[in-house]
This record gives sequence, structure tokens and C-alpha cells, in this order.
Amino acid sequence: MQITKGLLGEHAVFYVQFDYLEEKGLAADGPIPLHSQLELLGSALSAHAQLEDELLFTRLEPCLGPAGPLAVMRTEHEQLEQALASAQESRELAEVGDWTVYIVRLAREHFAKEERILFPMAEQVLGADVLDQLGAEWARLRGLAPVAHLCRAAFPE
Ligand SMILES: [Fe+2]
Ligand SMILES: [Fe+2]
Repeated sequence: MQITKGLLGEHAVFYVQFDYLEEKGLAADGPIPLHSQLELLGSALSAHAQLEDELLFTRLEPCLGPAGPLAVMRTEHEQLEQALASAQESRELAEVGDWTVYIVRLAREHFAKEERILFPMAEQVLGADVLDQLGAEWARLRGLAPVAHLCRAAFPE
């Protein structure tokens, strides 16, 4: 599977978490439950950003250069990390709520740029073979079972 498809699948799971935070998380009656939710979200976002950076961005860099879209994406990863850290430092519920709204908005905007601009660009410049190779590495690092191999074994061409 191409890495861009795997990363898109991860975005889809984040959207469910963003909806939950907006609909229910913000109704928390103290800062601690919101801190716990943000800690979970932060650890998942950080792992997602690290895989994108190490696998996809690093491979795109010789084609696109370090500036331009890659610089924007990396800056936004850092902004998300900083916002999550600031939210954890806040002790007032209203302040943690404001950080939560900001984090969800920033992450949605960042994902939209990846989905509309960066991933299609990656599919154009890297080609299917490289994307499949990166996808296999992504699946290995995520600890996924090698489904494609099982399917080929079950349904030989
Ligand atoms: Fe990203
Ligand atoms: Fe992403």
C-alpha cells in the first residue's frame, strides 16, 4: 500500500478524535480530564508527524528542496507540539479549552494542506513503486500485519 494512503487513514482516525474533543471534550468540568485527552491526542499526533517527516518528507526533500511546502509542514508540526505543551502547562479550564480549540483548528488546517497539496505532489514526483516501498516501511514501523503478502498468497495472480 502506498504510504500516502496509510497516512490518509491515520488522518481519518484523528478526525473522529477532533470531533469528540469539540463535542464532548470541551464540556469537561475541570482541566485534568482535558489534559488527559490532549496527552493522548498529542502522543498520537507526535508519532504521526514523526513518521511523515522521517519517511515521506525526507524522501521528498531531494525533489522539492527543504523550503516551500516541506518547510511549512515541518513548521506546523512544531507549532502543534508547542501548542500541546502550552495546553499541558495551563491550569485554568478556560485556557486549556482555548488551547484545545486552537490545536484542533491548526491540525485540521495542516491535514487539509497535506491531503490537497502535499500528498498529491508526493504521488506525482515519487511514483507508485517508491510510495509502495515507503508504505511497507510505514506498516512495519506501525506494527501492522503484512496483509498484502497474505492476500497474494491466498489469491495468486
Ligand atoms: Fe503532518
Ligand atoms: Fe498528516
